[in-house]
Amino acid sequence: MDTNLSTHPSAVGVVPIRLGRPFGAEIIDVDLRGISDSGFAAIHQAWIDHQVLLFRNQTLDDHDLIAFSRRFGDLDHAPVQENGQRIANGMPEIYVVSNVIENGVAIGSLGAGEAVWHTDMSYLPSPPKASMLYALEVPPIGGDTSFCDMYAAFETLPDSLRDRALGMRVKHDGTYNSGGYVRQGVTPTDDPRNAPGTLHPLVCTHPESGRRMLYLGRRRMAWIEGLDLPESEALLDEIWAHATSPEISFTHRWRVGDLVLWDNRCTMHRRDPFDSASRRIMHRTQIKGSAPPAA
Ligand code: SIN
Repeated sequence: MDTNLSTHPSAVGVVPIRLGRPFGAEIIDVDLRGISDSGFAAIHQAWIDHQVLLFRNQTLDDHDLIAFSRRFGDLDHAPVQENGQRIANGMPEIYVVSNVIENGVAIGSLGAGEAVWHTDMSYLPSPPKASMLYALEVPPIGGDTSFCDMYAAFETLPDSLRDRALGMRVKHDGTYNSGGYVRQGVTPTDDPRNAPGTLHPLVCTHPESGRRMLYLGRRRMAWIEGLDLPESEALLDEIWAHATSPEISFTHRWRVGDLVLWDNRCTMHRRDPFDSASRRIMHRTQIKGSAPPAA
């Protein structure tokens, strides 16, 4: 897809470039601090078409990040995490993902370990429709973020599994975050049926593209409504192995100044661990969404 985006002060031609198979694109030569309405419309369409967009070489402060994020809609506040500061510089819309400790206090969440595959905040009745992550400091090795395509995950399911998945609902657990930490204020249980969270359809229709997609959330403490636990675990394992296969995912290697915007409805993401002696600081915003509609 060729797109001509106009930014201020001068118009810049921009070509989305496919990052890898089979989805994702890079938007080049755009300064996100000054996007015209027509430029924003093209970015919005590219986001719907490609699901994950990369913008390199940005120089955004938190106000700029919030201003660009608000072009997509109202923002959610940062989610409750395991510890540390929940927000940056008094701005509740900025969620800090970091392993850095300052004056004995973690400045953000998720540490330096792996963050497992997940959809952001799918344990809520109305999860965010989009997330964007902006890289302020990155480690020399590790801390890469991978994305998988949940349209392809549905479309390539074996027929028998696809028929079975339609009409099912999954419990999305709100106990653990993607780093495996228990969220503040939650008492963990081993039974997903009793855990805090929300049931969502396993197969949803994307409200903007009209395409059908798997909606999985996170594997740990998930449960398929109506099944006994062993049966639910076996079916979830099979579906998850398919949805996160390398054929329908790609990995982004971060540089400082990268902003990655993803459609939180039709992708999942995970993060590689990195050396805890390195610093990684990312600021994230999220755009409010609505309950994912059943297919
Ligand atoms: C997140 O899950 O939003 C954070 C991903 C990352 O740190 O790369």
